[in-house]
Amino acid sequence: MFALLAPPARANGPDVAAGRAFAAAKCAECHAVAATGDSPKAEAPPFRRLDERFPVAALAEALAEGIATGHPAMPEFTLTPGEIDDFIAFLESLTAE
Ligand code: HEC
Repeated sequence: MFALLAPPARANGPDVAAGRAFAAAKCAECHAVAATGDSPKAEAPPFRRLDERFPVAALAEALAEGIATGHPAMPEFTLTPGEIDDFIAFLESLTAE
């Protein structure tokens, strides 16, 4: 009977590890995705510095719409809302330091 008082299941919340895995699989070819290090592709901003150019919320919106607009050097990605939440949580974990 205490089930209703339990905190929401973690499985539904943003998952930093999943966001990191997504970045490593899809973005690390060009962007630095760790707390240190340079991007493999020099023009691609390291993820830990993205928040210097964008509020994280604007980034979430851009990811939902497909971030390719105006950046021909970058392939187009369409993320599901869950993937975006995970990715943003991961970015926040990078820039929190
Ligand atoms: C094939 C290389 C490549 C891959 C893979 C890649 N990017 Fe990029 N990305 C770039 C380059 C190059 C730029 C810089 C473009 C510019 O400033 O004109 C960039 C810029 C960005 C920017 C900043 C956009 C801006 O307006 O300055 C964001 C945010 C971004 N990438 C997110 C991602 C995410 C998220 C992924 C993985 C899902 C990803 N990128 C994968 C090459 C890539």
